Amino acid sequence: MTAGPSTPRDPRIPPPAVESVATVTTEPPPRGEDSPPIPGPQVLSGYLGGIPGDVLEVACGNGAHGAFFAPSLPETTWWPTDVTDERFSSVRAYAAETGNMREPHLLDVADQASWDAAPVAEGEAAAVVAINLLHISPWACTLGLVRGAAKLLRAGAPLIIYGPFKRGGVFSTESNREFDENLKGRNPEWGYRDVEAVEERAAEQGLALEKVHEMPANNLMLVFRKAV
Ligand SMILES: C[S@@+](CC[C@H](N)C(=O)[O-])C[C@H]1O[C@@H](n2cnc3c(N)ncnc32)[C@H](O)[C@@H]1O
Repeated sequence: MTAGPSTPRDPRIPPPAVESVATVTTEPPPRGEDSPPIPGPQVLSGYLGGIPGDVLEVACGNGAHGAFFAPSLPETTWWPTDVTDERFSSVRAYAAETGNMREPHLLDVADQASWDAAPVAEGEAAAVVAINLLHISPWACTLGLVRGAAKLLRAGAPLIIYGPFKRGGVFSTESNREFDENLKGRNPEWGYRDVEAVEERAAEQGLALEKVHEMPANNLMLVFRKAV
């Protein structure tokens, strides 16, 4: 799916539908050229490659990202979750053909009781992954994510967050600012998060920001690590 804007964008053209993945209802999207763009496979593999354990994906959408990443991380078991089961038939179809990807579970990142019921045991997750969630959900979801991830991750394991962000309150491009405005127009609680604000709240939960990777289309991949 497309999470953020491409640069430059013709201002006469409305911003892309930010939840394009949400429009994929029950069928998995086609493979090959028509598949949604997958963010940063090499970056993710660099952190998870060869590491055994359970990877919890929150906000999995239609499951396409899990189905792409899981086979290249055969030592892991990939657990897709989302706040809604609207696209779970798609996720199930991916899981059925992906050996190390499990059936989807409901998980609301803003609800700690939901984390308590996560399919991965507390203190045992090899990683928690969130792709294209923070800008399109209330700030309470970011807070819930860092809190829940800190609880589930084992010592030294990463929380990996992908999406568009501000840095120091500044948008990287004008099109990013416009996109943020568009998001807030749809829901005043949505919008780009500041890397520094997320970093501060993650640190409060014992997750240190280790690396910020710049990704295509002005997206970032933030890698936090739970203290050993
Ligand atoms: C823009 S889509 C991204 C889906 C997928 N990660 C991708 O990149 O294609 C945002 C996703 O966040 C999920 N979401 C929204 N609020 C959530 C919450 N409180 N807890 C978990 N997931 C949530 C939505 O259901 C949706 O699947």
